[in-house]
Amino acid sequence: MSVLIKGGRVVTAADDYVADVFIEGERITLIGESLDIAADKVIDARGKYVLPGCVDPHTHLEMPFGGTVTIDDVESGQTSAAFGGTTCHVDFCIQGKGQTFADALADWHAKADGKQLIDIGYHIAVTDLSAPGALEELATLPDQGVTSYKLFMAYKGALMVDDETLFRTMEVAAATGALVMVHAENGDAIDVLVQRALAEGHTDPIYHALTRPPETEGEATNRAIQLAHVAGAPLYVVHVSCQESVEPIAIAREKGWDVWGETCTQYFFIDQTFLERPNFEGAKYVYTPPPRDKANQDVLWAAVRNDELSAISTDHCAFLWQGQKTLGEGDFSKIPNGGPGIENRLQMIHHFGVGGGHISLNRMVELLATNPAKLFGLYPRKGTLAVGSDADVVIFDPNKKVTISAATHHSKVDYNLYEGTEVVGSPDVVLLRGNVLVENDELVASPGIGQYVARAKFGEQLGR
Ligand code: URP
Ligand code: ZN
Ligand code: ZN
Repeated sequence: MSVLIKGGRVVTAADDYVADVFIEGERITLIGESLDIAADKVIDARGKYVLPGCVDPHTHLEMPFGGTVTIDDVESGQTSAAFGGTTCHVDFCIQGKGQTFADALADWHAKADGKQLIDIGYHIAVTDLSAPGALEELATLPDQGVTSYKLFMAYKGALMVDDETLFRTMEVAAATGALVMVHAENGDAIDVLVQRALAEGHTDPIYHALTRPPETEGEATNRAIQLAHVAGAPLYVVHVSCQESVEPIAIAREKGWDVWGETCTQYFFIDQTFLERPNFEGAKYVYTPPPRDKANQDVLWAAVRNDELSAISTDHCAFLWQGQKTLGEGDFSKIPNGGPGIENRLQMIHHFGVGGGHISLNRMVELLATNPAKLFGLYPRKGTLAVGSDADVVIFDPNKKVTISAATHHSKVDYNLYEGTEVVGSPDVVLLRGNVLVENDELVASPGIGQYVARAKFGEQLGR
């Protein structure tokens, strides 16, 4: 099968030019001007952008959490991702307490089996190193393509690890070529604040934010940075939400340390006041770190512009409002933490980030595709448009008007964080390794087409 994409504006992190893109099988084999070449399928991309498929480095599909399981499984989550122009994601495989990493990964592979519409890789979330041989087993994972170790510094009594586990994992990463990822919040201090708030009778969703002040994020971010530096491990701080966390990352980067930060779409648009919405609607915005004071939104736009933060993910962790979020009626600490967003990242960042003058089109591609691919061992197969790269392509219509809504999105979740938002610019055609996934607002591929990607070690390129 061959595909010729004619006359589009090819935009990568570095370039922006009008060209034709020729795909043979799963790869891009030629990019040039006015290619006179026969193809099985020709797509007219005049007036459109031709972008690399976006890479989402932070998702939680069918993940047990907060006394329930996230509502999107691999099929619904990846369908939603595909409509949004994401063709590859790295999901969190969570080690159960006492579980071997091999068993945890087998569980996650089983959930994806036969259901995949886009390509997937896994981070391993380390929760327990107490079993004999756990550290040694952890050290074997990068050779199997699992090249990032995630640690939660919060969620006390559930996923949280102590500093010894954090530091020992960092030492393994330094030796094996893995990237360490941290959810940076001080879980012990937050637990004190949560218990006190509940004891004082404060049960509403707004207390989710009030018991997780930004300083607890800043402290943990700085602690992780310092410990990673001692261990000699590269560090990636997930879902940075506030100035208190941006600052230590910026300082470390200024010193040339191997530290990167990610924020998520929602932190640019949802602020703390959303948690005060009546009739328990505030629960829709209970994710962690919580929506912050609005002033942080400008901080985050500046940080992604000047490369203090290097990626924008979705942290898609969707729970139904009716039936899942409601587990926390009468006790904010029982509201499952997480929000949806896998489908709307490109639309929102294009419309408000590029359209709002915060970032360039090239920088948008870098933040949504190229940097996640580079940091997580997927580049140059993913994250760019180049001869030899996987033909993961988004043909993006910059003039297409869309009103974002739960009524039309493809996730199973019963609400959308951006409900009613009108954006101009949306994917038209989405291809995965040369196969058309989405065209004319229809899914035209079947589950099973997506593949597991064994990723390269940190700093290495992904070959075939
Ligand atoms: O609230 C969130 N973010 N839920 C998902 C788990 C995590 O902390 O990333
Ligand atoms: Zn987290
Ligand atoms: Zn997350």
